[in-house]
Amino acid sequence: MIQTLEWTDSGVRFVDQTKLPTEETYVTCQTYQEVADVIRNMVVRGAPAIGVAAAMGVALGVKNSQASCMSDLKTDFDQICNVIGQTRPTAVNLFWAIRRMREKFASMQAQAIPRIKEALIKEAQRMHAEDIAANEAMGRHGATLMPSSGGVLTHCNAGALATCGYGTALGVIRAAIEQGKKIHVYADETRPFLQGSRLTAWELMKDGIPTTVISDNMAGAMMRQGKIGAIVVGADRIAANGDVANKIGTYTVAVLAKEHGLPFYVAAPFSTIDLNTPDGSQIPIEERNAREVTHIAGKQMVPDGVGVENPAFDVTPSKYVTAIITELGIAREPYQESLRKLGEKQLALSI
Ligand code: MRU
Repeated sequence: MIQTLEWTDSGVRFVDQTKLPTEETYVTCQTYQEVADVIRNMVVRGAPAIGVAAAMGVALGVKNSQASCMSDLKTDFDQICNVIGQTRPTAVNLFWAIRRMREKFASMQAQAIPRIKEALIKEAQRMHAEDIAANEAMGRHGATLMPSSGGVLTHCNAGALATCGYGTALGVIRAAIEQGKKIHVYADETRPFLQGSRLTAWELMKDGIPTTVISDNMAGAMMRQGKIGAIVVGADRIAANGDVANKIGTYTVAVLAKEHGLPFYVAAPFSTIDLNTPDGSQIPIEERNAREVTHIAGKQMVPDGVGVENPAFDVTPSKYVTAIITELGIAREPYQESLRKLGEKQLALSI
């Protein structure tokens, strides 16, 4: 299995996703500032992976702290959380992970500094293991929804590379294939960052899963020709009413799915569900550098001076979402109620 990110004795190690699919290289961050940079620059990306990277970044920053008393350590801790918290605004897993590290830190106040450092490292490692387990559980729930054969379309990369392993949307596909379903994946290229053609296609090819890459504007035609039986994507944040923020272009795919009578599934861990955000209009959407749109592989593709927009995500209203697959079970409309029930289940499990 690909090690998207891992804690090592020499720092936090990431597969460099900006170099895939042509180069499989690794970057080891030795400071929390370096971890913040790799999140911002998308060396690591995908909501669950961003969350665990943030937790490991916090643990690394605290490990390196020279503080010799609790109040200095607290000052350092707050600074580390602030810097990491300002990297990417949409994926709620980033803030979920920082909050969990804050809770761990707060629970250790009476302990000696070396024990606090050790506990934070362990907490981040636990989150890594929990993420893989959540993906496998999502796979078990979601596989039942996949067609027994035929094309399944996905957008962006919600696979092993976007998580600590196995993937959310691609985890559902993997589980269905493990159950013997004959699925052929259609991967949207996903302009402008090309997560579909560079990353989804790369990891599925590595696993020997039949995959066809299409450019984003081909999805409607493929649906019309009957090549797609279902759609499954990941999410960066799901509001309490079931509205889904995911990679730009997801909304278009969801509307097309509805037009063609195809089920549109979203697979995400419960940490992606933000019950404090009432609906999609409240989700902050990251605007990235225009250069991602204007240049392809370093070559300028648009005239100088032209206006460019580059929102990294869009919001799909819940009415287009057939079901939300989580590790705790499957939620369906009305989402307000089904997601709240999952929240209660999560709370009961954590007590
Ligand atoms: O900008 P990215 O590559 O971090 O965006 C990733 C996505 O939109 C994924 O679909 C989402 O994070 C779910 S990953 C399991």
